[in-house]
Amino acid sequence: MKHINNTSFSIVFISLITFFSVNVFAHGDIAPQPIDIDGLEDLGEEWLERNPYSGNETAIKVGEAAYGQNCARCHGLGGMSGGINPDLRKMKHDAEDDAWYVMRVRKGSVRNGITYMPIFAETDGGPFSQEALWAIWAWIETIAIED
Ligand code: HEC
Repeated sequence: MKHINNTSFSIVFISLITFFSVNVFAHGDIAPQPIDIDGLEDLGEEWLERNPYSGNETAIKVGEAAYGQNCARCHGLGGMSGGINPDLRKMKHDAEDDAWYVMRVRKGSVRNGITYMPIFAETDGGPFSQEALWAIWAWIETIAIED
């Protein structure tokens, strides 16, 4: 009897811990953090095809902070993915990957009803302007590595 009680106690205890950690994670990290785009050239409503801020120092600074607050929890600190999510350092910054980036931040990634990556672009119902999102891309360009 004593053995069974101990086991049930452990199960309840472990479930409680799991329940609370999952909740803390879900609530603590989901809210998008505002991105301050002061000092960046206004890009208007239409999505551009190429990154207008490539090499732009102000944008790179804005992008680094914004990445840390909004993307790192999945893509890893410094863009160094823990392995489950794509390692963004391996992306190119050519026409094809610029287009792929825009597609991802506008559409997110949903498969079989599960959201793997939320939509980030304001134009598509997400929280961020294209200025903010190109700034993030400009920072990611500075940490790119050869595949
Ligand atoms: C909730 C987790 C999550 C967050 C937050 C997140 N991503 Fe993602 N991202 C993913 C996953 C998972 C994929 C892979 C999706 C797929 O292949 O269907 C992905 C894919 C991408 C890709 C395409 C990579 C490739 O190799 O094809 C880019 C670019 C990207 N994310 C950029 C960002 C940026 C920028 C941010 C922050 C604004 C961000 N992500 C925030 C989970 C996330």
